Amino acid sequence: MELSGRSILLTGASGGIGRATAELLAREGARLTLFARRSGPLETLRSSIQSSGGTAIAVAGDVRSVPDAERAVALAVQSFGGLDAVVNNAGIGMLASLAEAADESVAELLDVNLLGTFRVTRAAYRALSERARSGARSVIVNVASFAGRVGVPYYSFYNASKFGLVGMTEAWRRELRPSGIDVVLLIPAAVETEFLARLDRGRALGLGPAGTVLTPERVAREIVGALRRPRPEVYIPRRNRWIGLLNVLSPRLADRIVNRLFRYPGRRT
Ligand SMILES: NC(=O)c1ccc[n+]([C@@H]2O[C@H](COP(=O)([O-])OP(=O)(O)OC[C@H]3O[C@@H](n4cnc5c(N)ncnc54)[C@H](OP(=O)(O)O)[C@@H]3O)[C@@H](O)[C@H]2O)c1
Repeated sequence: MELSGRSILLTGASGGIGRATAELLAREGARLTLFARRSGPLETLRSSIQSSGGTAIAVAGDVRSVPDAERAVALAVQSFGGLDAVVNNAGIGMLASLAEAADESVAELLDVNLLGTFRVTRAAYRALSERARSGARSVIVNVASFAGRVGVPYYSFYNASKFGLVGMTEAWRRELRPSGIDVVLLIPAAVETEFLARLDRGRALGLGPAGTVLTPERVAREIVGALRRPRPEVYIPRRNRWIGLLNVLSPRLADRIVNRLFRYPGRRT
């Protein structure tokens, strides 16, 4: 998809991967609807895009709210005459052992990471398929995680949200392709953003050599590439696909590798 002039809705645009993606897409000439809860950072981003010659509107809202998701889509269509793509990037993290987990935190995680993507995509579906009917294919990019393919100690609830997202994305890819909508699954390793800063880093990365830590700009470049040339799955870095594959083919061997990659103080492997 040629990005110049295209109308793209980006969730989680107020920070991290979302902000880096918005900056890159604006330079490509896309017309952006920036969606997240915090209006301050969204507005700052919108005005910096505008003052560099780009086009963006900011919509403050929560992916846990159906009316907010519908309002974001309606404003994108009204402002830019339609919708060509959605990047479902909004997400939160949580690390907790089974014994520590609180019901509310687990419910919130699933509500944002899994159901939030569903709400925004359902709200966007009609506009995306109208665009596709006019002859131009439209695109959905879902930002999952390597944690959507491989379970790791303390990530179980985050794993559940992202494994769910991976399954939903795979089914949509097959369901929506005939309607002219390409669906891309993005599978990044850890990324240096506020998301990671908010987690206990010792638990997030372990003490082992798990630490491929990507920059948000690297992930943003992959999102832009996926919008241009949609592919079913994008692992970042690419080599992680082999661990993903091994995890399915030989869980026992994958246990050994994951336990070597992630080591925690005081925990026997
Ligand atoms: N960082 C990593 O290590 C990593 C690795 C793999 C995948 N990911 C995934 O990448 C995506 C982006 O993460 P990031 O690292 O860029 O994190 P981040 O810097 O914390 O940004 C998360 C974004 O999501 C938005 N958001 C959170 N809850 C929301 C809600 N209820 N409604 C609307 N927007 C919401 C936040 O904005 P507001 O707070 O303003 O709402 C923010 O813009 C997430 O889906 C995450 O799971 C991250």
